[in-house]
Amino acid sequence: MKCTFATAGAVACLAMAAGMAMAQDMTVGFSQIGSESGWRAAETTVTQQEAQTRGIDLKFADAQQKQENQIKAIRGFIAQGVDAILIAPVVATGWDAVLEEAKEAEIPVVLLDRQIEAPEELYLTAVTSDQVYEGKVAGDWLVGEVGDADCNVVELQGTTGSSPAINRKAGFEQALEGHDNIRITRSQTGDFTRTKGKEVMESFIKAEGGGANICAVYAHNDDMAVGAIQAIKEAGLNPGTDIKIVSIDAVPDIFLAMASGEANATVELTPNMAGPAFDALAAFINDGTEPPKWIQTESKLYTQADDPQAVYEAKKDLGY
Ligand code: AHR
Repeated sequence: MKCTFATAGAVACLAMAAGMAMAQDMTVGFSQIGSESGWRAAETTVTQQEAQTRGIDLKFADAQQKQENQIKAIRGFIAQGVDAILIAPVVATGWDAVLEEAKEAEIPVVLLDRQIEAPEELYLTAVTSDQVYEGKVAGDWLVGEVGDADCNVVELQGTTGSSPAINRKAGFEQALEGHDNIRITRSQTGDFTRTKGKEVMESFIKAEGGGANICAVYAHNDDMAVGAIQAIKEAGLNPGTDIKIVSIDAVPDIFLAMASGEANATVELTPNMAGPAFDALAAFINDGTEPPKWIQTESKLYTQADDPQAVYEAKKDLGY
C-alpha cells in the first residue's frame, strides 16, 4: 500500500501507512536532461549522493537533451513500477500525456529545477528557483552598475522553450524597464553550453563591429558566460572591464573568472534539488503529507566584492 494521488490524505491510507515500505526503501527513477553545463553535472552528482545517503535505489536516465528520450525513460520507469519519478524537464510543454500515465499508475512525480506548463494535479511538487527573480536580480545588478551611462547588452539565452530561458529573459527585461539607457541589442540561444555560448558571442562581436559597442553580456548560465569570456578575449577585448559579464548558476569556474576580474556577477542556483524532493516524497509516501506545489530554492547574488577566490575554493570539490 502506498499513498497515491488518489488516496493521499485519506484515513484508509494513513491507517495502512505504518505497514508499508518506508521512504528509505524507495526505488526512484530520475530522468535527467543531460550534461550540458557544470551546474547540470553537479545536480546529477548531488542527486546520486542524496539517494545513496538515504538508502534510495536511484535509476538514472540521461536524455541527451531530448524530450522524446525523457518521455521514453519515464514510460520505462512506469513499466518497472518505481515508487516515484524525478524529472528535470528539458522544455516547458508537452508533458501532459506521460504525466497522466504516471498518475494512472499511482506514481508520484517531482519536477526538478525547471517548471512546466501542465495541470498541477499531474505532479506532486516542483523544486525550483524563482527563475523570473533570478533574471531580475541579474538585471538589477547591471542597472546599479551602469547608472546613467549608455549600455548595449547582448543576451545569451538558455535552451529554447525551457522554463529558465523563458523566465530569466522576462525577469531581466523587467529590471530594465524605465532604464532607457540600457537596451538588449542582440539575443540568441546558446543552449546553456560553453561551446555555443562562445560561438554566439563571436557572431555578436562580428555583427557589432568588433565588440566596442557592447557594454555587457547577460548569459542565462555561467557556462555560456565562460564561453563568451573566451570569445571576448580572442577579439582583443577585456571581459569584466570593456564588457561586463553577469550570469546565473554560481559554478566554481565563474568564481575563477571573477577572481581574475573577467566576470562581474552571478546569481546562485543550488544544485541540491534532490534533498527537498526526497524529503517531500518521504513525507508523502510514509504518511500522505502533501507538499506545497512549489518548493522554492534561494537565489543569491555574488559580485567581485564577495571574495570570489574564497568562494571558488569552498565550492570546487562539490561535484561541479
Ligand atoms: O535548469 C537550470 C539550468 O539548466 C541551469 O542554470 C543551467 O546551467 C542548466 O543547464
